[in-house]
Amino acid sequence: MKPQILIDTAPIPGSTDELHLLDCGDKFVIKLSDGRGGELMSSRMHGSEDALGKLPCRKIAERKGALALIGGLGMGFTLAAALGELQEDAQLVVAELVPGVVRWNQGPLGEKAGYPLEDPRASVHEGDVMELMRNSAGSFDAIMLDVDNGPSGLTHLDNSLLYNAAGVRCALDALRPAGVLAYWSAGPDERFSNRLLAMGIAMEELQVYAHGKKGTRHTIWMVRKNDGNK
Ligand SMILES: C[S@@+](CC[C@H](N)C(=O)[O-])C[C@H]1O[C@@H](n2cnc3c(N)ncnc32)[C@H](O)[C@@H]1O
Repeated sequence: MKPQILIDTAPIPGSTDELHLLDCGDKFVIKLSDGRGGELMSSRMHGSEDALGKLPCRKIAERKGALALIGGLGMGFTLAAALGELQEDAQLVVAELVPGVVRWNQGPLGEKAGYPLEDPRASVHEGDVMELMRNSAGSFDAIMLDVDNGPSGLTHLDNSLLYNAAGVRCALDALRPAGVLAYWSAGPDERFSNRLLAMGIAMEELQVYAHGKKGTRHTIWMVRKNDGNK
């Protein structure tokens, strides 16, 4: 096993935990310092993070001056994939709760996703994506949320607000007409799927490979506003 070198730590606002950035030789890893040693992300596997950026943006790519929002910068793979789908006149805001993560992406970690923050269409909002959506009714053509492991097994308890009925409603409200909302999760979550159905929301639920064309798959839910979804 390659040695893991701790490069930096970053406090998580509103929490006593922090994030750790580790250099493992052939990959970077972000871990949570909560004693459980939980890996939040590795730069080796990003197939589903790429899909989260691509699939919703493909649906809105033809719009003039499209405005998209990503919740959670992480290692920047979703951002890079989304930028790859959008036109020159598009704008993409990334809301990131942990300022240290933004700094890491501006440094050596940024190379893994091709330094997407340097794209003139990209900008960072340092703060909670939920708060930004609450203050942005009718603003975005696409919203892509990957702030945690998914609706269950959360690393930040406050993030449960994003997945409950009020959170889903808040995200839909932040969309322009016919906008697209997408959620990433480490796996299927029947309670969340049923919650969307109980809210009368028509959605696509996709299982996407984490890496390559076999092995672990992650879940993406996609909802289009006004497909019966207000
Ligand atoms: C799993 S990573 C995202 C990975 C990303 N999709 C990528 O391509 O690398 C989750 C990110 O969301 C951030 N985050 C967690 N809660 C958040 C919140 N409420 N608002 C904004 N960012 C948040 C974390 O600090 C972390 O950087």
